[in-house]
Amino acid sequence: MTDETSSAERWDERYRAATEPPFGEAPNEYLRMVCARSDFAARRVLSLADGDGRNGAWLAAQGLAVTAVDCSAVATERAEDLDRRRGVAVTRIVADLAEWSPAPGEAWDAVFVIYLQGTQALRLRALEIAAAALAPGGWLLVEGFSKAQGPRPGIGPDDPDRLYDLEELRAATSGLQVIEALAGQVRLDEGPRHRGEAEVVRFAARRPA
Ligand SMILES: C[S@@+](CC[C@H](N)C(=O)[O-])C[C@H]1O[C@@H](n2cnc3c(N)ncnc32)[C@H](O)[C@@H]1O
Repeated sequence: MTDETSSAERWDERYRAATEPPFGEAPNEYLRMVCARSDFAARRVLSLADGDGRNGAWLAAQGLAVTAVDCSAVATERAEDLDRRRGVAVTRIVADLAEWSPAPGEAWDAVFVIYLQGTQALRLRALEIAAAALAPGGWLLVEGFSKAQGPRPGIGPDDPDRLYDLEELRAATSGLQVIEALAGQVRLDEGPRHRGEAEVVRFAARRPA
């Protein structure tokens, strides 16, 4: 069993134990803001670690063709239920991002990595997949808890190796043009697991056209 297989099991347990969607059913605020930009014109998008579907379902409801990947089968079943309730179609894949790769030649106009709080190795792998899968002009969007967060009861990971910093994001996406690289305090209101003051990064970059 790999570390990330056990991570899938841990996430299955967390989702099974949740009495309501842990991160809410509304899309992540930063994702929504970037999608509203006048220069954002994506049609095909990829959501990595889409969880129980709030982002993928919302993106599909905007008329985008969405592919979503998550290692948790339990979360993906819930995401499929959300898609049905919203009347949208999302291509959902249960896979470990430590191992998954898109089919050769597959490309997306935007790739979203929202709160994938994995080990550094997993974060870098996800960023590598994302950067390689961007069509010319395509957007990479990342939001996650930052190193400034540290362990906080009830919100974000305890392990500092699972936190982001902007230097790492810049270095891992050096072939992309950075549009925004923000780090600071926000007050999250995204369901019971993401509620309260948090230190986050918000990072958007584009593949040159
Ligand atoms: C904090 S949740 C965020 C879910 C979703 N992005 C959102 O914002 O609602 C982190 C997600 O990452 C997924 N994840 C963790 N490790 C993963 C891996 N190795 N491969 C794929 N997904 C993973 C978990 O199953 C979980 O759904």
